[in-house]
Amino acid sequence: MGFSAGDSKKGANLFKTRCAQCHTLKEGEGNKVGPALHGLFGRKTGSVDGYAYTDANKQKGITWDEGTLFTYLENPKKYIPGTKMAFGGLKKEKDRNDLITFLKQSTA
Ligand code: HEC
Repeated sequence: MGFSAGDSKKGANLFKTRCAQCHTLKEGEGNKVGPALHGLFGRKTGSVDGYAYTDANKQKGITWDEGTLFTYLENPKKYIPGTKMAFGGLKKEKDRNDLITFLKQSTA
């Protein structure tokens, strides 16, 4: 199964509780422990200026979109072995659909 559009309100809540301690969404909010997510869709892995990525994240070489995020967020360490992102993953497809729907709207 791949991505299908979900509930962005539920996604906002997931972002707040699972991602916001390490990532910002809006232009100019900058990097935290993790890189800024503004402009994420359509961007290559590891391309935020001034953020110290691992080689693993930089060299993954894919473009972030609904499909790649859907796979990545299930198990980040499986998709990018060697990543320093300390997040176990969102195992439920519905959670990933809701979160990605929210991210698409709020990182543009
Ligand atoms: C404990 C901190 C932490 C949490 C929680 C976290 N991340 Fe991350 N994230 C990171 C770090 C650190 C990196 C950089 C990884 C690297 O360089 O190996 C990263 C990288 C990423 C990337 C790749 C960005 C790029 O430019 O290539 C995405 C996408 C991402 N995180 C999304 C999320 C989402 C969505 C959530 C919530 C489900 C989340 N992260 C939760 C710390 C975190």
